[in-house]
Amino acid sequence: MSTIFSGIQPSGSPTLGNYLGAFKHFTELQDDYDCYFCIVDQHAITVPQDRLKLRENIKSLAALYLACGIDPEKATLFIQSEVSAHAKMAWILQCVSYVGELERMTQYKDKSQKQGDGVSAGLLTYPPLMAADILLYQTDIVPVGDDQKQHIELTRNLAERFNQQHNDIFTIPEARIPKVGARIMSLTEPTKKMSKSDDNQKSFILMLDDERQIMKKIKSATTDSDMTVRFDKVNKPGVSNLMAIYSLCSGKTLEEIEAAYAGKGYGDFKTDVAEAVVDTLKPIQEKYYELMASEQLDEILDHGAEKAAHVANKMVTKAERAMGLGRKKR
Ligand code: TYM
Repeated sequence: MSTIFSGIQPSGSPTLGNYLGAFKHFTELQDDYDCYFCIVDQHAITVPQDRLKLRENIKSLAALYLACGIDPEKATLFIQSEVSAHAKMAWILQCVSYVGELERMTQYKDKSQKQGDGVSAGLLTYPPLMAADILLYQTDIVPVGDDQKQHIELTRNLAERFNQQHNDIFTIPEARIPKVGARIMSLTEPTKKMSKSDDNQKSFILMLDDERQIMKKIKSATTDSDMTVRFDKVNKPGVSNLMAIYSLCSGKTLEEIEAAYAGKGYGDFKTDVAEAVVDTLKPIQEKYYELMASEQLDEILDHGAEKAAHVANKMVTKAERAMGLGRKKR
């Protein structure tokens, strides 16, 4: 059975972009693959975090994974910092990474610019940690949104480099990026990615937003003056983004959506998009609040960390041996 690995950062409440680009696909994959889903809290500390808020976000993200339909009987759900092999392998992979290639990562360039003077070294070495996450589990496929493509490319390069320089131990993973929804855009500036770190609250929908907030944000989403519902990412980025969201939440094709609103303007269209989003998120939210109040989470995460560590520790030992670290074990 092929192996899948993916992770989400507990840095704030996840958005509709995270749901449509990642969570939604995870649940569809768990029946057919050996899946590892991770709460990547060590990635979150590459930028400053409030201690208590981070802890809350970790728990909340675990509950959201499950509320979206991750079944702990089928998939392994765990917290990155609870499996020490991740940090160990990250160090090994930092030592096969070149500073130049890390400095070329788009996300590093964007985030380091925002941070100004106090850019942490962790922000630069974030991709080898992500590569460690993936390579520890002999991962074949990494389902992610479009913004992670470059990091997966780097992971492949690091794995190939290690295999050539030391020993052929790593599986070379492939990214799986959805055809529609790989990059859900900001509602206010639809040429930018929807992101929870955006200063403008109206630019994103959070997975835990209520019906009123969702309706308000979608109603005020930027469109254009052309008044036709047509998919054209270049000339009509706002409308195309809403169409992608609608299509993913309702199951309707883009063609069906275009046909349904021909000659009708944007009013009804926006209401229907908002209703489809509410209908998608409501059952997840109900399950989420139930899980947050239950005792189940800790048990699931303990079990997940144990299972993940069992696999990951073996891989770290292999990598350490290939590099000549420590003593030769008999
Ligand atoms: P993160 O936490 O920023 O995002 C989690 C997942 O959500 C996707 N995503 C989106 N998809 C569509 N439209 C959007 N607007 C949007 N915003 C986010 C992301 O592509 C991602 O799939 N570095 C990763 C976390 C990570 C990871 C890993 C992922 C760490 N280790 C190993 C895969 C494998 C990150 O910051 O994702």
